[in-house]
Amino acid sequence: MNNPRIIVALDFSGKEQALILASELDPMFCRVKIGKELFTAAGPKIVEIFIKKGFEVFLDLKFHDIPNTVANACRVAADLGVWMINVHALGGKKMLIAARDALPLGGTKLVAVTLLTSMGPDDLESIGLNNEPGIVVQNLANLAHSCGLDGVVCSALEAKQLRKEMGANFCLVTPGIRPIDALTDDQSRIATPQMAIQNGADYLVIGRPISQAENPLLMLQYLNKEIEEQLAAN
Ligand code: C5P
Repeated sequence: MNNPRIIVALDFSGKEQALILASELDPMFCRVKIGKELFTAAGPKIVEIFIKKGFEVFLDLKFHDIPNTVANACRVAADLGVWMINVHALGGKKMLIAARDALPLGGTKLVAVTLLTSMGPDDLESIGLNNEPGIVVQNLANLAHSCGLDGVVCSALEAKQLRKEMGANFCLVTPGIRPIDALTDDQSRIATPQMAIQNGADYLVIGRPISQAENPLLMLQYLNKEIEEQLAAN
């Protein structure tokens, strides 16, 4: 597969479980996401192990700090050889530009989290943001774009509007994906893989539907087939 669209979330508290799943996956058919939990438990070594196994890694540490600190963290993360890293767009323009400037163009992809999907209108109001979440997301995506970031993480439901506004070359990474007949777990604003691709998503972050499948590789192949069909129909 040329450009696998699925990023499997390795949401584990230890290296062993992550490696068991890795042995059931194939870097031909997916990328992987290492987040705060696994990274904190297993350190940069786990990134190295997955890269050695041939997987492209999205290091999901969502940096948010003063510009100098974020720039340095981005540089060190990119030096691990990862495919994608992210920062919070709420860190603001100076922080986003510092992060961008820290990375060579065309190397590690840099995307921004707009609003956490766990934030509803009440949460926004409580931190002094009085706009609708959709408007805040759009503003933050515009900011990320104007600072030269490669894209944003957003819900598949927001992807449609963002694809329209941001053009074809802005990368949209969407979590909250569930096959039509799957459990929703703790996700609320979910979309099927087809819906996400139809809405313009480039990459789909999928965790439990794959990690808890009886046969993760079979599930991965099934989801990839659905994605390929939808890409062809788009
Ligand atoms: O298991 P599941 O498919 O729900 O995992 C989704 C992954 O995407 C998790 O790693 C979760 O932290 C991440 N994520 C999310 N919603 C966001 C941002 C990230 O579910 N808005």
